[in-house]
Amino acid sequence: MNNDIRRILFTEEQIQERIASLGREIAEDYDGDALILMAMLKGGVVFISDLMRRIPMKLDIDFIQPSSYGNQTESTGIVDIRLFPEAELKGKRILVLDDILDTGRTLLKVTNLLRERGATDVRTCVLLDKKARRIVNMEADYVGFEVPDYFVVGYGLDFADKYRNLPYIGVLREECYGGGEEETS
Ligand code: PRP
Repeated sequence: MNNDIRRILFTEEQIQERIASLGREIAEDYDGDALILMAMLKGGVVFISDLMRRIPMKLDIDFIQPSSYGNQTESTGIVDIRLFPEAELKGKRILVLDDILDTGRTLLKVTNLLRERGATDVRTCVLLDKKARRIVNMEADYVGFEVPDYFVVGYGLDFADKYRNLPYIGVLREECYGGGEEETS
């Protein structure tokens, strides 16, 4: 699996250091208020498991599963919700976590839905922000790192559901997905 990576963009140490700092910032901003950390499946699962342990306050965790990409390298543009939280969201403060903010369609759809379901405060935190690909008007409240428009995998990010378990974030060799470096996740 490591041989499929052309170069490492963020090492395990860099990711953990950044997450520790995000955790401190989030804990300070929420200052003990009730909070639900809500990860987007599947990509956000690694991020939530590390970040939640760096936020030293009582919180709930939950999951939502949108999907627009399937096994393709390009978005279909249609965001479908496969799994929605069962918990009552009325009046709740929610911080939505995801591995990457790309076109912005997924995060926009999910944050709008959570507000429609009555959440009073919906903010967003993404590990990676690929600004060059944005199509809709969506910015995250907390960002781990900005990334160039490369096909990145690891730390939750996949190609055809593989590579999520890499502990770092790297650029996938083009022969592994049949594209050029400028193509994207
Ligand atoms: C990826 C990623 C984000 C979304 C970002 O999820 O995890 O949720 O795409 O793209 P956007 O900003 O263009 O909407 P994907 O749909 O591939 O599902 P996955 O998390 O199961 O990999």
